[in-house]
Amino acid sequence: MDSAEQYYEAKAALEWQVELGADEAIGDEPLDRYELVAEVPKPKAAKAKPAAAPIPMVEVDAVAVAKAAAAGAADLAGLEATLAAFELCELKRGARNLVFADGNPAARVMIIGEAPGRDEDREGKPFVGRAGMLLDRMLAAIDLGRAGPDPAASVYITNILPWRPPQDRDPSPEEIAMLRPFVTRHIELAAPDLIVLMGNISCLAMLGRKGITRMRGSWEEVLGRPALPMFHPAYLLRSPHAKREAWADLLNLKAKLG
Ligand code: URA
Repeated sequence: MDSAEQYYEAKAALEWQVELGADEAIGDEPLDRYELVAEVPKPKAAKAKPAAAPIPMVEVDAVAVAKAAAAGAADLAGLEATLAAFELCELKRGARNLVFADGNPAARVMIIGEAPGRDEDREGKPFVGRAGMLLDRMLAAIDLGRAGPDPAASVYITNILPWRPPQDRDPSPEEIAMLRPFVTRHIELAAPDLIVLMGNISCLAMLGRKGITRMRGSWEEVLGRPALPMFHPAYLLRSPHAKREAWADLLNLKAKLG
């Protein structure tokens, strides 16, 4: 093809493009846009994530967790903080306050009740309601009180449950088993000479059996320490005729203290 032919061929191609609408030059070099299309990177398909491993359902052994937590408490303040941080007991969610203890931690006598009621839940202290007032009068009758600094003349008081159960119902066996390690550690840390178990729940938790009418007045052993089951003051409020036996048990306690 001579140069004239080349010229006319190029001109014809240009006019054909102008006819198609390509009437404006935007670059010096021609671009083959078909080629470019081939080069356009394809949108990346989202990388398929490896399927997440199923989360294993681990059953928590609440008693084992409680035992380990309680064992880690080095003193009474540490035990109270550990209980306050313990989240496996549902009773905590319905309670206003943690009811840990009252009285003199150095006392020779440790009294273990059942659970906080409405007044105790409100105040965060054990035995402050009607039953508590009767307990104070009973203790005063044998020259003991919770306020005194003298370990020989004072008591230290706690409960099996540190949180009030709904409607003051009895604790379930699971709740007792879960909270027992804290009571056990509480006894170890307070190290009383004598223990008083107030009522059936306390006997069930610490001795593994109940039947307070038969058990009261006879010394048992809890963690190597003498423990006396007694009628619960709330029972004495309902059954005043039982105060005779309660008085006998108080004298028994006083005699043991020497
Ligand atoms: N009854 C208990 O056993 N404990 C309390 O703190 C109050 C009532």
